[in-house]
Amino acid sequence: MLGELIINGGRRINGEITIQGAKNAALPILAAAVMTDEECVIKNCPALRDVDKTVLVLKDLGCGVRREGSTLMINGQDMFDCKICESLMREMRSSIIFLGAILTRCKKASVSMPGGCPIGLRPIDLHLKALKKLGAQISEEHGYIKCSAPKLCGCDIYLDFPSVGATENILLASVCAEGTTVVSNAAREPEIVDLANFLNAMGAKITGAGGSVIRIDGVKRLHGAEYSVMSDRIAAATYLAAGAVTGGELTVRKANKNHMNAMLDALCDMGAELSYDGDAIHLKPIKRLKSIHTLRTMPYPGFPTDIQSPFMAAASLAKGTSVFVENIFENRFRHVDELVRMGADIKVSGRCAVVRGVKRLSGARVRARELRGGAALVIAGLAAEGQTIVENTEYIDRGYENMEKHLAACGADIRRNN
Ligand code: UD1
Repeated sequence: MLGELIINGGRRINGEITIQGAKNAALPILAAAVMTDEECVIKNCPALRDVDKTVLVLKDLGCGVRREGSTLMINGQDMFDCKICESLMREMRSSIIFLGAILTRCKKASVSMPGGCPIGLRPIDLHLKALKKLGAQISEEHGYIKCSAPKLCGCDIYLDFPSVGATENILLASVCAEGTTVVSNAAREPEIVDLANFLNAMGAKITGAGGSVIRIDGVKRLHGAEYSVMSDRIAAATYLAAGAVTGGELTVRKANKNHMNAMLDALCDMGAELSYDGDAIHLKPIKRLKSIHTLRTMPYPGFPTDIQSPFMAAASLAKGTSVFVENIFENRFRHVDELVRMGADIKVSGRCAVVRGVKRLSGARVRARELRGGAALVIAGLAAEGQTIVENTEYIDRGYENMEKHLAACGADIRRNN
């Protein structure tokens, strides 16, 4: 049976939450660990379903993996396989980043076409085009992508769109390529910087990560490294949204506000009062949020698509009308019907959602259909009158570590059923 979260809404989220390591940084870093036969020690790895799945992929490839608290130790010495089994690939689209990593290590790689959250088409054409340019031969047969590259050669790669995953795959495939690779229109997300920092700790020579042009000077080999994963900016913003919409006083710790400008700016536009102290972000209690004029999701440093739905849940209770424009994924409004079941007034037309703030939401049985949309339903449930049951918690568990425990410790009436 699928899990449920049972929430009795209307309580303020007051207190402190320490933010987990970033899922979207941990996954490519764990994949990168296969590129050496020495041990890698990855600290601040969140306990998430997607991380567990990535560990299964590593073990399937023959890597040794041990967990001690939030530290994962990966040993690729006995890696024997260069193929990722179909069931694991289907469950997690992000396993596509293993393609570049395995190719670097084994000169060949085979992965089935990726799965993942049902939020749109999510093609991988940019990944494959870039790998081909680096010298990989790629064929697609029977749902599998087969790559081989006895030799990868540095080159200039221009990305039509600053895809996060494609940028990561290029880094992974080019670090040991012969010569220099220059990626233009690269994704600038902080998670890219975190991956580049880890690769550099392994001996790679990458400069410019975090900007639009990244230069990778190929090195002969990589060695083991110890690294601590960055803080999860999306989780931090999710909890702040929960605090703000419930009128709570909340401090998120181990957050990096420099990664969160667009999100914090939007919260302030909605009337939230924030203050900062080192790695802590403090939210003051407010009576009711204001609407936000227009929020457009964009590649970093723009407003992240991943926080669109949690902020929409908050906007559904704000005073006034907010417009959300989803520019990254074409099917990322799957939470809207569920919010409407709870009394939200939201109209969707194509990539736009118009949210007329209502005074109250009423608890209902709703279903998470993807990770962030699930978090949005939890936020709505925390602020709603009466009981909300959020079904399909396994989506939420893909990206939030102990969400209900953190929220309960801050005064929420929330518990898990299964
Ligand atoms: C990553 C994040 C995800 C986040 C997204 C955008 C991980 C594990 N996931 O996903 O949480 O929502 O960045 O910030 O880090 N595209 C193509 N062709 C490609 C690749 C992408 O057309 O080959 C398109 C996609 O369909 C989408 C857009 O580019 O419309 C953005 O995708 P991308 O940046 O690649 O996102 P992911 O790496 O999949």
